[in-house]
Amino acid sequence: MTLNEHISELTVKVEQMQASTKEELEGLRLKYLSKKGEITELFNEFRSVPKEQKAELGQALNRLRQTAETRINEMRESLSQASAAVQAKEDLTRTPDPIALGTRHPLSLVREEIIDIFSRIGFTVADGPEVEDDRHVFGLLNFAPEHPARDMQDTFFVEKETGEQKPTDILLRTHTSSVQTRVMTDFAKKLQNGEQGAIRVLCPGRVYRNEAISARAHCFFHQVEGLYVDKNVSFADLRQALLYFAKEMFGEDTRIRLRPSYFPFTEPSAEMDISCNICGGKGCAFCKNTGWVEILGCGMVDPNVLEACGIDSKVYSGYAFGMGVERIANLKYRVKDLRLFSENDVRFLNQFQSC
Ligand code: DAH
Repeated sequence: MTLNEHISELTVKVEQMQASTKEELEGLRLKYLSKKGEITELFNEFRSVPKEQKAELGQALNRLRQTAETRINEMRESLSQASAAVQAKEDLTRTPDPIALGTRHPLSLVREEIIDIFSRIGFTVADGPEVEDDRHVFGLLNFAPEHPARDMQDTFFVEKETGEQKPTDILLRTHTSSVQTRVMTDFAKKLQNGEQGAIRVLCPGRVYRNEAISARAHCFFHQVEGLYVDKNVSFADLRQALLYFAKEMFGEDTRIRLRPSYFPFTEPSAEMDISCNICGGKGCAFCKNTGWVEILGCGMVDPNVLEACGIDSKVYSGYAFGMGVERIANLKYRVKDLRLFSENDVRFLNQFQSC
């Protein structure tokens, strides 16, 4: 075989070299490029070729050596990358791959903010069931059996599994005011046992009403109820707590106004408006040019309610308020369609604060 043929044959071999371990790679390097390697051997042969062929064969030989070196370096690089990847997997102390965090639901953000604001003036959180009885949702809250106020809230009643078509007194709570009655009856028991104290609770939770779902109404939504019962609680205390809340939630410049209203469980009752936080009270489409937007209902706990729960209304008085979390979220984030809060569309949810 002539030197030229040798060079061509080795060029093909070198281009097709494959190594799956470092040892194999080293074997290939020795085979071709070491002192006794096949390519080095060709350089020795080269010494004896006739002068007139030297230039051409010399170039071909150099190209062959270059090809071999490049191929070996490429294989070394890819083997070391692969082994780094394996090592990284085996290394239990490595920093974990970053996990994409989700975002907090806007209703959770608003609920937490409401709780946070009131917790700074001593309120704690109380919980109660969503499936309730008539007594806790209506009875103890001074709704007379045929009271027209019951029509204010279209209720989902839960049928018992007896199959009988008897009217049921189990229902999905229509407001979180039901938790008030549980807290007050517990408090009454403590008083009977000679304990002292006061109630200062927030009751956040989901409520249900039989409403057709639209951009402005839903069959479930969220409320936060507040209740303060102590000796000598006055309407001024209520107003001051709500003014503090409005300023903390919507900014220092926010003003409030209380309009007389009616709820069976409070007397006197009021609805609270805040100066529109979108136009600053000047009047805009959101506040229907009034400069005010309604955010909650409130009042002094009706003595009938205190008594029904076992608390002496001559000694204790209290205030209560209830607000819709969606309503507050709407004002904060200008969400026009209520349905967005429950559809779990990540394009909507991703716009809120991450976890
Ligand atoms: N429960 C009322 C509702 O669902 C809201 C409410 C109004 C709660 C006045 C209160 C209150 O505690 O005092 O519309």
